[in-house]
Amino acid sequence: MTQIAFLLNGTPVRVTGEAPTRTLLDWLREVRGLTGTKEGCNEGDCGACTVMVTDAHGARALNACILFLPQLHGKAVRTVEGIAGPDGALHPVQRAMIEHHGSQCGFCTPGFVVMMAVAHTSGARDHDDQLAGNLCRCTGYAPIIRAAEAAAAEPVPDWMREDLAALEADANEGVVIPADADALAEWYAANPDATLIAGATDVGLWVTKNLRDLAPVAFIGGVRDLSGVHVTDREIRIGATTTLADLRDAIAPHHPAFAELIRRYGAEQVRAAATVGGNIANGSPIGDSPPALIALGATLHLRRGDARRSLPLEAFFLDYGKQDRAPGEFVEAVSFPRQPDRLACYKLSKRFDQDISAVCGCFNITVADGVVQSARIAFGGMAGIPKRAAHVEAALTGQPWNAATVTAACDAFTDDYTPMSDMRASAQYRLDAARGMLMRYFHADQGVAANVLELAP
Ligand SMILES: Cc1cc2nc3c(=O)[nH]c(=O)nc-3n(C[C@H](O)[C@H](O)[C@H](O)COP(=O)(O)OP(=O)(O)OC[C@H]3O[C@@H](n4cnc5c(N)ncnc54)[C@H](O)[C@@H]3O)c2cc1C
Ligand code: FES
Ligand code: FES
Repeated sequence: MTQIAFLLNGTPVRVTGEAPTRTLLDWLREVRGLTGTKEGCNEGDCGACTVMVTDAHGARALNACILFLPQLHGKAVRTVEGIAGPDGALHPVQRAMIEHHGSQCGFCTPGFVVMMAVAHTSGARDHDDQLAGNLCRCTGYAPIIRAAEAAAAEPVPDWMREDLAALEADANEGVVIPADADALAEWYAANPDATLIAGATDVGLWVTKNLRDLAPVAFIGGVRDLSGVHVTDREIRIGATTTLADLRDAIAPHHPAFAELIRRYGAEQVRAAATVGGNIANGSPIGDSPPALIALGATLHLRRGDARRSLPLEAFFLDYGKQDRAPGEFVEAVSFPRQPDRLACYKLSKRFDQDISAVCGCFNITVADGVVQSARIAFGGMAGIPKRAAHVEAALTGQPWNAATVTAACDAFTDDYTPMSDMRASAQYRLDAARGMLMRYFHADQGVAANVLELAP
C-alpha cells in the first residue's frame, strides 16, 4: 500500500493506495474535486494544469499532468483554489488579471494565475519567459503581461507561506524514493528492470499518452547527493538530478550561451522538473543539453552498485535508442574542464519558446595567433544520436581562422551527417542550417552582428 504525505493548499494530506504513476492532475480533479486545475494537452505543453510546488529550495511551477504523486512527498502543493486568501481576499495577481482584462473564455486563466503567483512569490520579473509555457487562445498575451507587471510591486500575501514542518518526515511507504545515491545504487542493482523517474517530463508522457504500466519504479528527483552544480578550479560537475532551471542559473557566469540555450528549453514548468541526467539517459537525438556538453568536452559518470565508470559523453550514445548503459546502471553526474568561454549554441525550432529543436548546433573553437587550435562541434537533430562533427573539426584544426577555412570546412558536414527529413525539417534544410551556424559562429567571433535579434531593421 503506497502512502505519501504533502501539504495541499496549506493542509496536510495523506494519500494511500494510489498507483505510484497516478498523476497529480487526475488525482486533484477525480479524487479531490479540485477542478480549477485544467487539463489541456496532458503532455506538459500548455500550462493549463500549472500548480505551485514548494520545498526547502523554494517555490516552482510544475505541470500537474506529468507530475506523479510520489514526486510531491514532503512538499507543499498549491492549486488555483489555494491562491486567494482564506477570507476570500484576492491574490495580487488575481486582482491584476481582473483590472487588466487578462481573461476571456477563462480556460487558461487558472494556469496563468498559478504561474504568475509563483513568479510573484520568487520575485521573478522576466514575465515573457515566465509565462512562455502558458498558452492562451483568445485573450492575447499583452493584457496578461500587463497584469503580471502590475502585481509585481505588491507584497507576497502571508497566506502563501508554506509550513513544511507540519508534515511528518517518515510518512512514505510502498513507494521507492531513495534518500541518497548509495540507497539508489543498491536498490537499482537489485531491480535492474525498474524505471527510474527523475523529473518525469519524458516518463510522464509514457503514462499519459502511451498508457504504459511502468512498475516497478523509483523516484530519484530528491536523491540529495545527485543534485547540484559543483565548480572547482579544474572542472564543473553537474549532478544527474540537477534541474535544467538550476543548471541555467549555475552555468550562466561560465558559459552564457549554454544558459541562453536552456532558456529555450521547454518552458519554466518543464525546466523546473526536467533533469540533466534524464536529458542524457533518454538518448534523444534532439535533446538540447548533450550537444552543448559534448562541445565542452564532457565526461559522463555512471554507477552500478558500488562500481563506477566514466566515458566521454559522445561515446555514451551508440545508436538511435541505444546507449552504453548496463541494466541497473544509472547516471551519477556529468563533468567538463574549466576553460575560457568559447561556446556558442544555436537552437533552431519552429517556435522560439517551448519547442523541440529541429537542429541544435554547439561550437567550441579556440584560436591563437589567427590559427585554429582546437574545435569541438556537436549537433542534435542531425543524426540518430547527439553527434560530434569530427570531419568539420578536422578541417578547421590547424588552419587559419578565416572565411576561406570556414567555407571549406562546411563541405565536410556531409561526411559527418546524413540527416533525415521529418515534420521539423528536411534533410537539406538541416545541412544548410548546420553550415549557416558554423558561418555564424565565425562572423560573430569577428564582431559582426549575426543574430537576427541584433540586426537593425
Ligand atoms: C513540454 C515539454 C517540452 C520539452 N522541451 C524540451 C526541450 O526544449 N529540449 C529538450 O532537450 N528536451 C525537452 N523535453 C524533453 C524532456 O524535458 C527531457 O528529455 C528531460 O531532460 C528529461 O528529464 P527528466 O528528468 O524529466 O527525465 P524522466 O522523464 O524522469 O526520465 C527520462 C529517461 O531517463 C531515465 N533517467 C532519468 N534519470 C536517470 C539517471 N540519473 N540515470 C539513468 N537513467 C535516468 C528514465 O528512466 C527515463 O528513461 C521537453 C519535454 C516536455 C514535456
Ligand atoms: S495539461 Fe497542458 S501542460 Fe498539463
Ligand atoms: S482566455 Fe481563453 S484560452 Fe486564454
